[in-house]
Amino acid sequence: MTRPVTGGDHSLVGSSSKIGAVRRLIEKASANRLRVLLLGESGSGKEVVARAIYEANPRGQFVPIDCGTLVGTLMESELFGHVKGSFSGAVENKKGLVELADGGTAFFDEIGDLQLDMQVKLLRLIQELEFRPVGGLQWRKADLRIIAATHRDLDAEVAAGRFRQDLLYRLRVLVIHLPPLREHKEDVPELVDHFLAMSRAAGLPAFPPPWEIRNALLSYDWPGNVRELKHAIDRMSALHSDGALQLSDIPSALQNHMAASTLNRLSKAVESTPAESFTLPPKSPVISLPQSEALAIRNALEATAGERAKAAHLLKIGRTTLYRKMKEYNLA
Ligand SMILES: Nc1ncnc2c1ncn2[C@@H]1O[C@H](COP(=O)(O)OP(=O)(O)OP(=O)(O)O)[C@@H](O)[C@H]1O
Ligand SMILES: [Mg+2]
Repeated sequence: MTRPVTGGDHSLVGSSSKIGAVRRLIEKASANRLRVLLLGESGSGKEVVARAIYEANPRGQFVPIDCGTLVGTLMESELFGHVKGSFSGAVENKKGLVELADGGTAFFDEIGDLQLDMQVKLLRLIQELEFRPVGGLQWRKADLRIIAATHRDLDAEVAAGRFRQDLLYRLRVLVIHLPPLREHKEDVPELVDHFLAMSRAAGLPAFPPPWEIRNALLSYDWPGNVRELKHAIDRMSALHSDGALQLSDIPSALQNHMAASTLNRLSKAVESTPAESFTLPPKSPVISLPQSEALAIRNALEATAGERAKAAHLLKIGRTTLYRKMKEYNLA
């Protein structure tokens, strides 16, 4: 199936050496019509790169094709089209996505999710740039630039018998690896400013994130990569009201991260400071220290079904510290 080509900004943001290397490969790929395979975790920017390759040298249309949804004969017709009368319901000739992309770019997204029977059909298209509509007798030529993307490890998929090795060889001409965001955190500030500018352009009021949030954005690991960062900024920009960010405006994964690191810092301070000289750091205007600690403890207890030893381990604090804090916050 295809998705509508959404409008909006597809620019690849980042000045790190890793993103620099990706940019050089984009240039190389767009200068000729080499097949490109984009690999990287979910949310790391594969589609952004696919569109950037197309846009650097736009020719014809950019046609995204979701391989995960290409199953069964109807989908074969979706991809290659069909001739009138080839099956009940085929009341007239219909063009498929491949023909739509003729002269342009076909972006096979989530290629690792393609069913084996469709992989065979794609092989010929990729190898010979030929296709045959369902019910048609003749092979037709297509002038296509082929870009494929997946978050899966295709070698592992081949080893598990779920992906054809010959297809992988054909796809693996120019491979671009998108690094996970945790490996190019130096790009976080630039990305944050980019997403803030986008939400301002969408009419939302300006929202300069307080330093606690900026710090958290930098130290968090972003398992959902740039997409998760974008959603966090979009959410905070949309929800913050009257300039005061509420605890509930912060995505919960980020809240947990902030709470856990505050608690971690605090427990280190408690361990290395004589009790009588210990003073709490100044209260955060966004999420107070006790609030964030109580939240982290509650989450850890929830995650461990109330097992305190495990919860303490998760929080990277001693058990005694945990008991004391539970008492303090009435969580015991
Ligand atoms: N380097 C970047 N600069 C600007 N925006 C980015 C960048 N990388 C990703 N994004 C944004 O993050 C979101 C996710 O990116 P994209 O859709 O390209 O990820 P993906 O790798 O295709 O993920 P999936 O495997 O889940 O399909 C999009 O909103 C995209 O615009
Ligand atoms: Mg994608």
